Amino acid sequence: MNAVNDDRVAIFDTTLRDGEQAPGCSMTLNEKLRVATALRDLKVDIIEAGFPAASPGDFESVRSIARTIEGPTICGLARCNSKDIKYAWDAVKDSANPRIHVFVATSQIHREHKLQMAKEEILKSAVESVSLAREYCENIEFSPEDASRTELEYLAEVVQAVIEAGATTVNIPDTVGYALPDEFFKVFKYLKDNVSGIEKIRLSAHCHDDLGLAVANSLAAVQAGARQIECTMNGIGERAGNCSLEEVVMAIKTRDGYFNVTTGVDTERLYPTSRVVANVTGMHTPRNKAIVGENAFAHEAGIHQHGMLQNRATYEIMRPEDVGLGRSNLVLGKHSGRHAFRERVEQLGFHLDDLELNRCFEEFKRLADRKKDMYDADIEAIIMNVDVGKAGPWIIDELRITAGTGTVAAAALKLAHTDGREIREAAEGDGPVAAAFRALEAVTGVELTLKNFEVRGVTVGDDAQGEVTVTVEYNRQSFRGHAVSTDIVESAAFAYLEVINRILRRRDSDDRVEEKTIALGNP
Ligand code: KIV
Ligand code: ZN
Repeated sequence: MNAVNDDRVAIFDTTLRDGEQAPGCSMTLNEKLRVATALRDLKVDIIEAGFPAASPGDFESVRSIARTIEGPTICGLARCNSKDIKYAWDAVKDSANPRIHVFVATSQIHREHKLQMAKEEILKSAVESVSLAREYCENIEFSPEDASRTELEYLAEVVQAVIEAGATTVNIPDTVGYALPDEFFKVFKYLKDNVSGIEKIRLSAHCHDDLGLAVANSLAAVQAGARQIECTMNGIGERAGNCSLEEVVMAIKTRDGYFNVTTGVDTERLYPTSRVVANVTGMHTPRNKAIVGENAFAHEAGIHQHGMLQNRATYEIMRPEDVGLGRSNLVLGKHSGRHAFRERVEQLGFHLDDLELNRCFEEFKRLADRKKDMYDADIEAIIMNVDVGKAGPWIIDELRITAGTGTVAAAALKLAHTDGREIREAAEGDGPVAAAFRALEAVTGVELTLKNFEVRGVTVGDDAQGEVTVTVEYNRQSFRGHAVSTDIVESAAFAYLEVINRILRRRDSDDRVEEKTIALGNP
């Protein structure tokens, strides 16, 4: 492959790895599969499905994605050690196109304070790890973490050595979002001028958004010859996030005459994919978010509207249809049939099996009886919500709330466990939501620290559904849960129980996978 002369930029999506690392963005296996399916439909080139050695749950989800998602390359991340590399390979090897991504930090601050390793030791470990990974897999990516703060000469030495050891992609991360576009361009230029054999591999950029420059830096890298961009949907990721996929792809498409490169992304899938990720993570995009925000194509000022009526190009550099935003507002009603419902669900970016579709359709009919107008957002909420509170192990059977001015709020509930237990509990609180949370904790024995509580109207009108998102801390880890109902106390209770159930399921599956991975043998 002569990557440098290639005019095709590969899109490497790391929503499921770097994105999922963002506080509160952890996803269940089903949610990850849903996102991976949407990314496949979007036609990204590579999906970084996770970090298999991080936890048994991560291993399982990377393996499931590798086994079920056809089309893109499926990549697993590994540190420079034989155990991580073996886990990564075991997780991705069933994909038709597997990749192992090996990384180690190279900057002085990371060498001295995080790794306590000398330059020579890091170089040796990088070379040995890439060589070992090459024994398993032909497609190897190497990342010198914090590359943008690494001495250029040393960076070039490491890059040259890993290319000789067999790396096929070398990724240059701006791990802490410190670089400026011109500076980042020069890093790529320096490597191209000083590393022999660099023309044989694909150069990649991985930028974080701490200074709001992740997209600009990634585009600068493309101008300097990078032919892979690492990014996440909606820009989710550690701290301020990663380079936003929809922004960088649309910049390349809209300014194609400037960049003279293309991507393989089906841009009409951008909006549906963004919605899937927002719904799964509960991280909703701001209204003014470029490309996928609610207002991204709204023209309010009279003078703009006048211009638009004469010629759309006066104020519109992209067409909303190009990013998949041609959707109608009022969609279906209570007389709509299953066929129309299925079609709409698919246009919204979801693939449901017959069982899931039936469950969602029944819920749609129930809601359509209560609610005058049904919008796309209602359908998305039904899909995201249909499993909430049903996967167990605890399920709410009854929830009764009493509250009012001058009375102490109280919640009485009955929970059923998948093992057959049924428990009733009552609790009081400062308000109805607090009372419901106390009762849930008393039954399940899981105590959470509530960090954030958000209520959002899914659509408009006084019969609109309310989505509650709770962010909580448990064992110094952050979890997010969300649920939708026309009754917000009920949404809150479902969201809270969703987090509790997630913690209990993770405990349970980690125990089981732990047994399995021990059986696999310590690599
Ligand atoms: O930001 C970073 O440096 C990373 C690497 C693992 C590629 O995420
Ligand atoms: Zn990163």
